[in-house]
Amino acid sequence: MPLHLIWAEDEAGGIGRDGDLPWRQRTDLQRFKALTMGHPVIMGRRTWESLPFPLPGRENLVLTRHPDWSDDGAVRTTIEHVRARSEAGETLFIIGGGEIYALLLSEATVVHRTVVHTTVNGADTHAPPLDSATWTLASTETIAAQDGDAHDQTFERWTRS
Ligand SMILES: NC(=O)c1ccc[n+]([C@@H]2O[C@H](COP(=O)([O-])OP(=O)(O)OC[C@H]3O[C@@H](n4cnc5c(N)ncnc54)[C@H](OP(=O)(O)O)[C@@H]3O)[C@@H](O)[C@H]2O)c1
Repeated sequence: MPLHLIWAEDEAGGIGRDGDLPWRQRTDLQRFKALTMGHPVIMGRRTWESLPFPLPGRENLVLTRHPDWSDDGAVRTTIEHVRARSEAGETLFIIGGGEIYALLLSEATVVHRTVVHTTVNGADTHAPPLDSATWTLASTETIAAQDGDAHDQTFERWTRS
């Protein structure tokens, strides 16, 4: 199951606002870390710029159309390179943002979706919808807000039908 997408969305599909996450959900970040640790993470250049530092323990690969782009702790990549590694059997995690999820959803085998039980005011970035003809909900778990979470949340794992 090589190409995994992972995101957290609100009840209206919102994932971002003003270049950042619109919430603090510590339990979701812990889950994100546990799932992605040790695997390459692929992100759009705007998501890279939203990170305070490179994600430790993971190869940070950044998609940009600027051939001369570089930044400490990241490696520029291309869709073709991502595709080739995935086809070779490597497990890769696509970690955002909206443009990159939309670009790669059709090639994904698994989607890890967290639904954050709120509706964000002014969300300006959205996740693509999961079409029920293509995607099957393999597992779901709703948990009440823990320490460090602003909202209750549901962790879902979707697989290609
Ligand atoms: N809730 C979540 O789970 C989650 C996760 C991640 C991010 N986010 C949020 O999402 C927002 C950012 O998402 P976004 O949609 O604005 O941007 P994005 O998807 O992170 O990055 C877009 C950039 O990716 C590059 N790109 C797009 N298509 C490409 C292609 N075919 N080949 C090479 N490079 C390509 C371009 O970079 P250049 O302009 O450099 O060419 C483009 O500007 C932020 O608010 C962030 O906090 C939320």
